[in-house]
Amino acid sequence: MIIVGGTSTNGIDEGLAKALSAELIKVEHKVFPDGESYIRIPQPQKLQGEEVVVVQSTYYPQDKNLMELLFMIEAVKDFGASKVIAVVPYLAYARQDKRFREGEALSIKTVLRSIRNVGADVLITVEPHKAEELNHFVGEVKIVYPEPLFAEELAKIVDKPFVLSPDVGALFRAKMVAEKLNCDYAYIEKERDRITGEITAKNIPRENLQDKDVIIVDDIISTGGTTAQAAKIAYSLGARRVIAAAAHVLMIGEAKKKIQESNVKLVIGTNTVPKAMEDMIYLDVSKIIAEKI
Ligand code: R5P
Repeated sequence: MIIVGGTSTNGIDEGLAKALSAELIKVEHKVFPDGESYIRIPQPQKLQGEEVVVVQSTYYPQDKNLMELLFMIEAVKDFGASKVIAVVPYLAYARQDKRFREGEALSIKTVLRSIRNVGADVLITVEPHKAEELNHFVGEVKIVYPEPLFAEELAKIVDKPFVLSPDVGALFRAKMVAEKLNCDYAYIEKERDRITGEITAKNIPRENLQDKDVIIVDDIISTGGTTAQAAKIAYSLGARRVIAAAAHVLMIGEAKKKIQESNVKLVIGTNTVPKAMEDMIYLDVSKIIAEKI
């Protein structure tokens, strides 16, 4: 098995090579003056007849990282790989998984069909927005969930934990963490305006969170609105302290400010995306991806 590491891996390619005792080939890369990406795989003859793991996360700039992922997969296939396993720790466009408004493009379908069509036999990703959306990849799919890592970390820190899901879609994530921490969990009913992006809480749990350490678990913190709203609700129910954990902590625009103002005491994320805050807990997902491979 050979690992081919792309330009946006945050060390996951190195982690996989170590965990799997496999050789790592780093791609050569440059950007042409007009902005187009150039990818070259050194020593391509090594790939002949091998199972090849191509690693490339597709965070910002998504379109560039995505194109490079496609170039890498097709090149690896052209050079004779017997099987291509695409490891895409952060899968771009995962949240455009349905047509919320008439006429919208189904972006994740295009992304997954492209990854498959250039030659990926297997797709491994960390915490996609919804597992069902991966059905657009007509091949083998494996999902890596970081919740056990969160729980391991949280167990060292929290006292009287309670897990809160910021919307119904993330409830299964809250459940995974709560079961490991042996505590209760609940969810908020959230609604997002599809035009303005504005969110509102339709229904809040009636739990008494007095003296509890409340953990908000989600797949992604993007503009921070969802987490900030959940934190405020947790404090209004009496929480002692709020901690936020998400696989992909992006912190776009004013997100950090929102999170701080809502009094979130600690943020936990993973290296599926670059580290967004100095003082966050930043967990490495290489080992749990290696287990799936
Ligand atoms: C939505 O369904 C997702 O699971 C996240 O809750 C959401 O995308 C987070 O986005 P933001 O941080 O911008 O509120």
